[in-house]
Amino acid sequence: MRIGVLTGGGDCPGLNAAIRAVVRRGIGGGHHMLGIRHGWAGLLGNAEVFPLAAPEVSGILHVGGTILGSSRTNPTRSEDLMNQVVANLERHDVGALIVIGGDDTLSVAAALCTRGWPVVGIPKTIDNDVWGTEYCIGFNTAVTIVADVLDRLHTTASAHNQVMVLEVMGREAGWVATLGGLAGGADFIVIPEATRDIAEVCRHVAKRRAAGKTFSLIVVSEAAAIDGIVEAPVQEKDAFGHIRLDKRNVGETLAREIERRTGIETRAIALGRLQRGGSPTVLDRIMATRLGAAAVDFVEAGRFGVMTAVRGEQIVPVPLGEIVGRNRRVDLDLYSLSQVFF
Ligand code: F6P
Repeated sequence: MRIGVLTGGGDCPGLNAAIRAVVRRGIGGGHHMLGIRHGWAGLLGNAEVFPLAAPEVSGILHVGGTILGSSRTNPTRSEDLMNQVVANLERHDVGALIVIGGDDTLSVAAALCTRGWPVVGIPKTIDNDVWGTEYCIGFNTAVTIVADVLDRLHTTASAHNQVMVLEVMGREAGWVATLGGLAGGADFIVIPEATRDIAEVCRHVAKRRAAGKTFSLIVVSEAAAIDGIVEAPVQEKDAFGHIRLDKRNVGETLAREIERRTGIETRAIALGRLQRGGSPTVLDRIMATRLGAAAVDFVEAGRFGVMTAVRGEQIVPVPLGEIVGRNRRVDLDLYSLSQVFF
């Protein structure tokens, strides 16, 4: 069979490991593998589809980014774009398509399935918020980076008796903030699932100072709403209609307000793309490898219209239709655990 593979949406460490697994497992099964460049954009217009043989995926297991390229192209915006996607899949005689993406990219995969296309999805996003799976490729690397950055901020904050506000990614859910903060010993974590008041954050910082703690590390999720701080409205949206959360500058705004209210010098650091760059951790390499190989297993078994979802130690098929318009939010028990150390 001719099997196509694409990566869509924000990149993350582990995409190449997944591509490698798809291609190697596919070739091992006697299939002809095809790469599609730049996410869904590679199936529009003249399309960018090319053969992927073993040499093309050699030496990429540990490399961040994606050899296929990615984009936030959304063909479901018009019937014409969806027709182009289908026409190009037909033109290149693609018998099955493996889509590595987050909620947006997989929602396009779901739309293709409803048109009868044989698609299998693989969940990836540092946000770790795809519905129906307990893990998304890239998450472990991102939280490892957050923990490392907190370790570094710890020493410099204590040297200068300052408050550090670290803004991390997470469009719909605060997984990166919660687990990164837990691993890095954050003194306060603000996430979308647990709305906080600025007065509460400042009271906490002041209480720590009164107790002899001369510095504080605060982690804030880019999507968190904080009552009592005034934000400038953000206009910029991506192709899926999401506000560009980096433009909110929530970390900077929070830091300014803490400094104004407590009188303690407060610095803000927005981690941004640093969370998505570099080599994947061992866990991400292994999860990407397992999920990539499982996607080809599903193709061979004729299990289409599903995503390779992680459930405990297992990889199970979850219908793509079920995940559209939903996100997996932070388990509040986990957030409560992080509060023990505030
Ligand atoms: O969807 C994943 C994500 O990492 C979000 O956490 C973040 O809001 C978004 O990507 C930012 O994407 P970009 O930097 O590509 O605009």
